[in-house]
Amino acid sequence: MKNKASELSVIIKKILPQIESYIETSMSGRGKVLKQELASKLSGDLNLTKWIKEGGINEDNVSGFLKTYLDNSQRMHHPHYIGHQVSSSHLASAVADFISGAINNPMAIYEMGPSSAVIEQTIINWMLQKAGWFVGDSIEDFTQKDGNGSGVLTHGGSIANLTALLAARARIAPEAWDQGNPGDLVVMGSEVAHYSIARAISIIGMGNRNLVSVPTSEMEVLKPEHLENVYRQTIESGKRVMAVVANACATSTGLYDPLDEIGQFCNENELWFHVDGAHGASALVSNKEKHFMKGLQRADSMIWDTHKMLRTSTLCAAVLFKNGNSLANTFQQKGSYLFHDKEKPGFDLMPYTIECTKSGIGTKLFWVLAAEGEKGLSDYIDNQYSITRKFHEMISTHPDFECPYYPEANIICFRYVSGEDGNDYQLALRNELVKQGDFYITSTEIGGVRYLRMTVINALTKEEHISNLLKEIISIAND
Ligand SMILES: Cc1ncc(COP(=O)(O)O)c(C=O)c1O
Repeated sequence: MKNKASELSVIIKKILPQIESYIETSMSGRGKVLKQELASKLSGDLNLTKWIKEGGINEDNVSGFLKTYLDNSQRMHHPHYIGHQVSSSHLASAVADFISGAINNPMAIYEMGPSSAVIEQTIINWMLQKAGWFVGDSIEDFTQKDGNGSGVLTHGGSIANLTALLAARARIAPEAWDQGNPGDLVVMGSEVAHYSIARAISIIGMGNRNLVSVPTSEMEVLKPEHLENVYRQTIESGKRVMAVVANACATSTGLYDPLDEIGQFCNENELWFHVDGAHGASALVSNKEKHFMKGLQRADSMIWDTHKMLRTSTLCAAVLFKNGNSLANTFQQKGSYLFHDKEKPGFDLMPYTIECTKSGIGTKLFWVLAAEGEKGLSDYIDNQYSITRKFHEMISTHPDFECPYYPEANIICFRYVSGEDGNDYQLALRNELVKQGDFYITSTEIGGVRYLRMTVINALTKEEHISNLLKEIISIAND
């Protein structure tokens, strides 16, 4: 393929029918959801060494390569894809990816991508508005107003969590930017905070033993009655609490921590309150489900992945702050939060992100919204949350299965309990199921007990699919 726009059109025209057919087959539910070859066989089938050495991909041979590539890809649009918390993406998001890839605008500096920079800021304002942290009349108003929050899009929730914790550090120990950590800082958080929180604490240089656990219930929901005790013990040991982190919702169960009570405790003790809403913040878009985020108004920061429940392709997340200056202070920039000043037609995001070169990831969510509107996204979230409760009813009333809790979001955990039912056995069932490739589910431990787990993230997954899943698990168990 030559580096010419006309050749791009030729290749795209050539591969589009293949991609269309791949997605249509996936959506129809025909065939397997996943085929996994040994990595060494797959790299050979893909002919990787030859392509890398010799080049020469063109309109005549691209289909052969793509066929092998697609045959060995996870079918995220298959109704039997009920695995990780990664969206069965809306295809409008692929349009954004294609445009971004083709024009390549690294928009963290306004002049390197004015359109995508404006889209990112408008998307941030939209998200702030959903969080109740935007006071302007129009999300296209980019002037910083008193009472407006701030935020930036990141390549994923892990970077978003890291950014939020850096902002918390900038408040309690602004000197740390120049001098290093003072050594007495800890973060309090749920025992089951996502691992990116512990990682962020290590990356910041605090050492992850300075993540102080707050006990949780049997179903791993943070128990706010323990906050006072853990806090007292922490300060008596000479430490200062940099932030308190809550799950909205927890990765393994999809259950929400009680944000309102945790927030009240944080506000009374003047502690930075961070809400990890990577998965569950999308409830803010649904009038029916947003009550799970009650208490967010007491938080200082939150994160929100769009590639989970807002239907974008990977990867796009937001870190949002209630206070407009929090983001600006994070990386010790001079001056107040910068929207466009008189000399510049727009705004540079670069001073406010970990990432230097950043792609126009806001365009993914923009395209999904432009296709479906807010109502479409809200209906999707309502549907996924409510159908998950129906699936829970089906599984928990089945004599061969048990479910440990009633789902709040679109994540269900369950165990096969007919006959052998130990932890290793659940894992073996899952492994065999995934090996057979007809269904893709995950597995998790809650309080030391192993469960099968599904994230009902595909709008095409219906009762019949779950019924077939249960039959297949029983059949594997009987074999
Ligand atoms: C609660 C929570 N926080 C953070 C993350 C990390 O997000 P990402 O995978 O976008 O880095 C996840 C991922 O599943 C999550 O569930």
